Amino acid sequence: MSIRTATLNGVATIEIARPEKKNAITQAMYRSMADALDAAVADNAVRAVLLTGQPGIFTSGNDIEDFMQRPADGTESPAFGFMRSLIACDKPVVAAVTGAAIGIGTTLLLHCDFVYVSDEARLAMPFVSLGLVPEFGSSLIVPQLMGNARAAEKLLLGDPFTGADAVEAGIANAVLPAAEVVPHARRVAERFNGLPPGAVRETKRLMRRARNDSTFEAIGVEGGVFARRLRSPEAQEAFSAFFQKRKPDFSKF
Ligand code: COA
Repeated sequence: MSIRTATLNGVATIEIARPEKKNAITQAMYRSMADALDAAVADNAVRAVLLTGQPGIFTSGNDIEDFMQRPADGTESPAFGFMRSLIACDKPVVAAVTGAAIGIGTTLLLHCDFVYVSDEARLAMPFVSLGLVPEFGSSLIVPQLMGNARAAEKLLLGDPFTGADAVEAGIANAVLPAAEVVPHARRVAERFNGLPPGAVRETKRLMRRARNDSTFEAIGVEGGVFARRLRSPEAQEAFSAFFQKRKPDFSKF
């Protein structure tokens, strides 16, 4: 099983556990993560959600083989279902970024409430290098958070950035030594056991209200372009190059 879930002391933990593939997320894994989030929202005993990965790797993003073999189609895709559940989740979501967070690994952080990053972690949104485009609201939210100049480095060039950069941009709360990331994130999640759950949920809904309207609009537009780009010759070249462990050749396009 590559998604592990457990509920303990008011906290539902969703752990990405596919270290042999650097925690790349398959369609089945997105489905499990969406089910776990929906179950956490429905369970009165759960006061917060903790989302984490493995030591040294949060996630290497969408499984690139799935991108090649089973290109997603819009709002019915498992990734969309998971992100819809994440964005709609009105209980606090705390992310413990235990290592690299690539592609959707960084994108999903934009929709969590608290993000703690290990001092070795690198975040990256290398969609262009894969012949793709930003997804799930990142083309809107990243420029809003860090301004167009720094967003261009991350989204057009796909430059990786550190946890400290993520804190400065308002994506993350704090950078911590690797061994402290999960325990600290858990302590933050457990604080919600001492707070009135109704007020927490209503406050989160209010905080998200204005942004969610524009986010869902952006997600719809991005999703259409993304689905088309997945089938593009540029993307096919990038995916093949990844599995053949060579540099992609975009000179012919
Ligand atoms: N999808 C599918 N398989 C992936 C993957 C992904 N996103 N990321 C890593 N893997 C697989 C590799 O193919 C390799 O499989 P193999 O052992 O069968 O050859 C295995 O995981 C280990 O990856 P490897 O690249 O050898 O590890 P590394 O430590 O050298 O590099 C990363 C780690 C995360 C930097 C690198 O794997 C990477 O760049 N992955 C792709 C990131 C990406 O572009 N994601 C999509 C964003 S939209």
